[in-house]
Amino acid sequence: MYDMGVLLLMLLFSALCGVYSDQGNIEILMDNVLVLRVPHGDDRREYVPLTCGGAYQNQPVFWKKNGMELSPPLQGNHVKVLVEEMDAGNYTCHLGPHGEYLNHTVILVQLDPDNRTVILVEKSPAEGHIHCSTPNYKGAFHCTWKRTQYRSNAAVLLVKAERHLEKIACVLDADGSGVHCQVLSCPYKEEQHRIYLTVYIHSYSRLEAYTKVFYLRDIVRPEELSDLRLSDGKVFTWSYPDSWETPRTYYGLQFQVKLVHHGHSCDSEEHIVHNITEDTKYEVTVKHKKYVFCVRAQDKYTNGPWSHWNQCGVNKQHAVC
Ligand SMILES: *[C@@H]1O[C@H](CO)[C@@H](O)[C@H](O)[C@H]1NC(C)=O
Ligand SMILES: *[C@@H]1O[C@H](CO)[C@@H](O)[C@H](O)[C@H]1NC(C)=O
Ligand SMILES: *[C@@H]1O[C@H](CO)[C@@H](O)[C@H](O)[C@H]1NC(C)=O
Ligand SMILES: *[C@@H]1O[C@H](CO)[C@@H](O)[C@H](O)[C@H]1NC(C)=O
Repeated sequence: MYDMGVLLLMLLFSALCGVYSDQGNIEILMDNVLVLRVPHGDDRREYVPLTCGGAYQNQPVFWKKNGMELSPPLQGNHVKVLVEEMDAGNYTCHLGPHGEYLNHTVILVQLDPDNRTVILVEKSPAEGHIHCSTPNYKGAFHCTWKRTQYRSNAAVLLVKAERHLEKIACVLDADGSGVHCQVLSCPYKEEQHRIYLTVYIHSYSRLEAYTKVFYLRDIVRPEELSDLRLSDGKVFTWSYPDSWETPRTYYGLQFQVKLVHHGHSCDSEEHIVHNITEDTKYEVTVKHKKYVFCVRAQDKYTNGPWSHWNQCGVNKQHAVC
């Protein structure tokens, strides 16, 4: 980026000026993005070196911050800017004071350790901030997150995913609230290594990194069951989700069956009947005229996440599924 002489000069300069500047606190996150790590509860200022680019060595280079001219003007191919608190930004360099755009560097600030995050909502202490799910063992999975009310402007800069040195390809969802990824997976083999997924997201100058670590098998949640129906008034039948693995003798599901009172949700604690079965049918023997029949699925070998409920509202042996 910048040559060693310039770096030493800047270290010397900052030492002389009494401003702390340890280049170890500055990391290149990706092209055109630098991250400054700031310890908790510390309001020290730091100089960050910027370079417009090797091609502009002998050009009259002028800098702007977030599109605004700086006062006094900041001039030169190699410059350093003082970053205080969360006051970082997007530094663009231009040919001459009002000239054409040449290049830019975004400086973001991240707390070190990054343990007091504010941008994303925690789903639950167990789940953390990122929820990942996949309907089978084929290796395609989807993760989602939610910005807090006051950080709805926050933008995802980068998503990194890997498993044991293997990079995982991910594509950000159009709304920036999720990512689709694909690992090469051999469904028949015992999964040995965890997936590490890190989302780098920033709100203005503040950068936060959220990491989720998991085995694919722990996020396999069957999709909803298909063809749920009531035949002859008391036997409900259904089929495995279309997206579930085959052969089904090898990838078995078990089903939770629940009857709840009319008007209640399937999550209701006050059930009429509760049962677990590996069959894809269930005979109802209760005398109730009105009730709700609920069924959901789980991998019977891993006891992983349950599918969402499928349900039928029943009234005098007529079911609406
Ligand atoms: C623009 O700046 C980046 C660093 O922020 C640098 O890697 C890149 O080489 C520069 N581009 C040119 C054309 O010099
Ligand atoms: C920074 O400014 C450049 C030039 O206007 C723009 O292309 C880039 O998207 C900006 N980056 C961010 C993160 O605002
Ligand atoms: C975050 O880490 C800092 C420094 O180790 C510590 O002082 C602070 O209490 C931690 N905050 C939380 C919310 O864990
Ligand atoms: C669960 O259903 C099976 C038949 O599918 C039945 O034999 C068993 O008695 C039921 N258990 C309960 C607690 O209702």
